[in-house]
Amino acid sequence: MTGQPQAPGLEAFLSEVRSALGSAAVLNDPDVVSGHTTDWTRRFVGHSPAVVRPRDTAGVADTIRSANRHGVELVPQGGNTGLVGGSVPTRGEVVLSLLGLDRMGEPDPISLQITCGAGVTLGALQRRVRAHGLGFGVDLAARDSCTLGGMAATNAGGIHLVRYGPMRNQVAGMEAVLGDGSVVSHLGGLDKDNTGYDLSSLLTGSEGTLGVITALRLRLRPVPTHRVLALVGCPDVAGAVELASGIRRGLGSVHAIEAVFGPAMELVERHLGRRAPIRAEGGWLLVEAAEVGRDPTDDLAGVLESGPDWVTDVAVATEDPTTTRLWEFREKLTEAIAVTGIPHKFDVSVPLPRMADFVEEVTSGLAGQFPGAQVYVFGHLGDGNVHVNVILPESTAVETAEAEPGPEELVLTLAAGFGGSISAEHGIGTAKRRYLPLVRSPEEISAFVRLKAALDPGGTMNPHVLLP
Ligand code: FAD
Ligand code: MLT
Ligand code: ZN
Repeated sequence: MTGQPQAPGLEAFLSEVRSALGSAAVLNDPDVVSGHTTDWTRRFVGHSPAVVRPRDTAGVADTIRSANRHGVELVPQGGNTGLVGGSVPTRGEVVLSLLGLDRMGEPDPISLQITCGAGVTLGALQRRVRAHGLGFGVDLAARDSCTLGGMAATNAGGIHLVRYGPMRNQVAGMEAVLGDGSVVSHLGGLDKDNTGYDLSSLLTGSEGTLGVITALRLRLRPVPTHRVLALVGCPDVAGAVELASGIRRGLGSVHAIEAVFGPAMELVERHLGRRAPIRAEGGWLLVEAAEVGRDPTDDLAGVLESGPDWVTDVAVATEDPTTTRLWEFREKLTEAIAVTGIPHKFDVSVPLPRMADFVEEVTSGLAGQFPGAQVYVFGHLGDGNVHVNVILPESTAVETAEAEPGPEELVLTLAAGFGGSISAEHGIGTAKRRYLPLVRSPEEISAFVRLKAALDPGGTMNPHVLLP
């Protein structure tokens, strides 16, 4: 706790919410509240007087209207797996937990869609639809904790973006409570619907700053019946990029193109207590191909054979548990980093032709400016998106990113200078908001501010996130 003053209307707000939602919906036991005030990385440690946990859209609307009446700021929170400090109350805001909105409809086998509450986890959705031979287009390692609402609010990417696109492409309809307390519901799921502004698309990626997503109509995909995964050793980043682009050009059934570079592989190997089945000089590419009703193994083999001459060492898996064990060299990295220290996490995208130069400059720049820093580079190479994780010798927990600036300036300026983005998939949150002007013009930021003022005139919704 910093002892920052709380909104004068806080007690009146809490009492109104208790009457409207029932007293069980307001949690203020400090032990319970503290479970909602530290982010997944442990880097952002905030404080809050209470957590409000509605069970339906009406409860969310009551909470937001009451917050507006009493000048109380709210931070929406799903699974709290976000990696940019956007889901924790860094300035004493009340946490609005959406985990209670966990109702899930039946998958519709005709439209290939399902309606889910925002608090449903990705893992629960995957389990529900798998029985119907269906899957979901976005997948990520936090699947058992992250919620569909949080994924939409951050426009999550994940490991199959190269095939299905980000969360925005999966959203066929949405229900939300805007910052002014009005409920907008458009859950029909029509694939073609040009009837004005696309509010679902606007709220996707808005990081809780415009309103709260309460339900989603989501597109489902047929589950591939055949999958093949290859781990390929690469001489360096340039080689991995060359191979990744050959695969994008030549493999129609491509399902994932992920990369792990040198020290990151050593770290995850130590964490897992086993070595990758093949050795490599510079990095590893994990390539997955998947199809319904047809085995893509020969196609993958063909594209690797016609690739660069150095493609000699390849480990292949077609069935569990081998496939899962191979995937773990990529999927367990975030966990391996978290147990090593408190990271500064960067999630940048760079045009693929410039990726190798970027990785070279960022790693040498970090080594020069931050001696002793551990630097781990890995990510969704097929999408031009790498995660640069930096653990400084003296990294600590902070309330706001400004408290320990670290390597942000170097990494984000470099990414922008390469024509890239300072956030490919995690969002801006509190961690990157100061740097938004690196990639967005004053006119764009001014439009963002006007949109926020129109939908959230009281400045109630996540007011310290995203906008500089
Ligand atoms: P939270 O962390 O609770 O919130 C994230 C943001 O959304 C916050 O700004 C919050 O205010 C807002 N928010 C949450 N719910 C709502 C709602 N219902 N309405 C409005 N705003 C809301 N991300 C990727 O993109 N790709 C990955 O591959 C990936 N892998 C990950 C792996 C691990 C191990 C971990 C820990 C995280 C990973 N992430 C990844 C980041 C994270 O899981 C995603 O950002 C996820 O979408 C966040 O969901 P959540 O429910 O935890 O949201
Ligand atoms: C990933 O791709 O593993 C995630 O986005 C998480 C991370 O960046 O650590
Ligand atoms: Zn990622």
